[in-house]
Amino acid sequence: AIEVARKVQALRARIDAWKRDGLRIGFVPTMGNLHEGHYSLVRLARANVDQVVASIFVNPTQFGPGEDYDRYPRTPDADLAGLEAAGCDLAWMPALDEMYPLGTARAVRVQVPGITDVLDGAHRPGHFDGVCTVVARLFNQVRPDLAVFGRKDYQQLAVIRHMVLDLAFPVELVGADIVRESDGLARSSRNQYLSAEERALAPEIHRTLLAVRDAVQAGQGWREAEADAAAGLQAAGFVVDYAVVRTPLLAEPSTSPGSHGDGGLVALVAARLGRTRLIDNLEFSAA
Ligand code: PAJ
Repeated sequence: AIEVARKVQALRARIDAWKRDGLRIGFVPTMGNLHEGHYSLVRLARANVDQVVASIFVNPTQFGPGEDYDRYPRTPDADLAGLEAAGCDLAWMPALDEMYPLGTARAVRVQVPGITDVLDGAHRPGHFDGVCTVVARLFNQVRPDLAVFGRKDYQQLAVIRHMVLDLAFPVELVGADIVRESDGLARSSRNQYLSAEERALAPEIHRTLLAVRDAVQAGQGWREAEADAAAGLQAAGFVVDYAVVRTPLLAEPSTSPGSHGDGGLVALVAARLGRTRLIDNLEFSAA
């Protein structure tokens, strides 16, 4: 059966014992309300290490004022059953004051410059500071050999790579493929906020990403492809935060024709339907 730790001391005792036995530890951080996207991360960790730890913690410091911290869905019993079925050995479920013993206002914060200024960082000020602040804590608590993050949150993974490199966290990062519904909508805990009408519109984001990829690969300039994507989503009823084509480090691609580089590109969208903000992305090669 899956074990649950709610105190750092209990977590540490278990992890120390595994480390003494020379076992490799994999880690999947989550905010709970788990779905196939999360479970695919657990299975990917499971295939690469001896013991898998998943955390469930809705982190207040990464939510802005007016965002959905209070109504974020909390489903711990279903999450534990799903984690156990996916092969997770230990669930780390700290209370707020265990994660932030000095309170969130006095918390030591981790800030990654540059890459957090754009896209979701620009639209959700402070969001990535909160993510890095909690992920740094989680890494120190769990001390994993390997940690798995979904490529659904593309910028989040890039920001965490930057933090791990710069703060020399001794952890190997692995990015996992995006898990989608059969109509293309990326799985997300926030999908359940959608009305039936909004849910029917939502797959347009994935169709738009595919169209951007096809257009760029057929020779259309990335700026035109971005403009077409934003206009199409707007016409379909979305409020578009961004619809862009970027390099893997989230810089603008080169503008000279045919020189998008031999590295890949990524199309990224953040768009809102009513109160629900959806993000998705698609990695592709320039030609
Ligand atoms: P959460 O939104 O719960 O996501 C946890 C992990 O699951 C992230 O790495 C995310 O990219 C991944 N994930 C979510 N939906 C996915 C999908 N459809 N396909 C593949 N992976 C998916 O991301 C967070 O929590 C938090 O910011 C966290 C890192 C836990 C820090 O609080």
